[in-house]
Amino acid sequence: GDAAGPAVRRLSAWDADALADLADAYGTPLYVDDLERVRANYARLAAAFPDAEVLFAVKANAGAHVLRTLRDAGAGAECASAGELARALDAGFGPADVHYTAVNPPAEDLDYACRVAAERPGLTVTAGARDTIDRLAERGFAGRFCLRVHPGVGAGHSESVSTGKDAKFGVPADEAVAALDAATDHGFDVVGLHAHAGSGITNDQLDEHERVVSTLADVARESGRDFEFVDVGGGFGVPYREDEDALDLERVGARTRDALGGVDATLTVEPGRYLVADAGVLLTEVNTVKRVAGTTIAGADAGMTALVRPAMYGSYHPIRSLVESRPTEEVSVVGPVCESTDVLGEARELPAPERGDLLAVGNAGAYGVEMASQYNSRPRPAVVALDGGDPELARRRETLADVTHAEATARTYRDP
Ligand code: LLP
Repeated sequence: GDAAGPAVRRLSAWDADALADLADAYGTPLYVDDLERVRANYARLAAAFPDAEVLFAVKANAGAHVLRTLRDAGAGAECASAGELARALDAGFGPADVHYTAVNPPAEDLDYACRVAAERPGLTVTAGARDTIDRLAERGFAGRFCLRVHPGVGAGHSESVSTGKDAKFGVPADEAVAALDAATDHGFDVVGLHAHAGSGITNDQLDEHERVVSTLADVARESGRDFEFVDVGGGFGVPYREDEDALDLERVGARTRDALGGVDATLTVEPGRYLVADAGVLLTEVNTVKRVAGTTIAGADAGMTALVRPAMYGSYHPIRSLVESRPTEEVSVVGPVCESTDVLGEARELPAPERGDLLAVGNAGAYGVEMASQYNSRPRPAVVALDGGDPELARRRETLADVTHAEATARTYRDP
């Protein structure tokens, strides 16, 4: 429907003047999150999975402005740590709409999740190892429990995010029934099954997705239990390159339902990227231009500490110059960090860069600020939220004091 807008929002669709005004007002590097686009993405996804429960994978963007927007739209929250759980509850998600997915959880995470489950019943805890089940039992857990199955099949934008193939995640399918029995013996309320194939699934990886779902269906049948829900994970990809097509969500929805066969349980999905990636851009200012050996290098004030995906996975993010009236040339955009991998984009056809130019990096709303670091003692960027009216600062720019405040000898920095 109209509320859902077009399936793909390209970087070119952002208003260059409005972005330049934001950079002026808030400085760079600056993340900009458009909450109307988050809502539209949610509406489109929910339409493709009617009757499904949609949980937002908080790890993609845990900003309170994003969490509140998705809560109000009707989503639940999937949390990967005590910190994400705390932020989701703080943003107003009811515990019944929250799943905590424990992956080799530190003791403090389990302590916290068990306290939430006991004091605010409704939280679902998902575990993917017998040890985690035993550690929950040791803490007297008696709440809603979901078993994460290791499907042995992965998918996604690279091997590094293909969780379905990584034995770190989930109990092997042939040990799942025994793990479910152990959970019941411990007195857990066994309500669901879970698997996640990977992150960034494209139209040509639907077979893998379907195999993951049918593995869950097999486990459900083999166990002879009634499950309240079957959670098939997230991972729905978005186009990062200008010529890439959108994921055919209707087809993913249909094939998911087919693969579930006759299993009579609510379908749960937990997308992160799909809901927020194209709702965010990163603005950065060019401060250095070099022309060497036929290449032009644009040094910008955002690099791998602001957006690590290109350095970490070799990911492509579209880059646009907000100065549009110059002849173009091939440009590599690099950041201020002392690492050769500190690159935002290589060999991009961009207007010949000049000092002071603003660049917009697209699809930065997912795994952008969330993966930002303080490496090189670099404060993390600010985040501004757009929602129709005036922009609102969602997260202030960090200062040097934020970088050092946990040190034993933390001090306050003044101007030199
Ligand atoms: N559920 C589970 C259990 C997950 O492990 C993940 C992602 C999701 C849901 C959400 O996946 P999404 O819908 O966002 O693809 N940092 C990487 C992505 C790692 C995702 C790990 N798990 C990146 O920047 O591409």
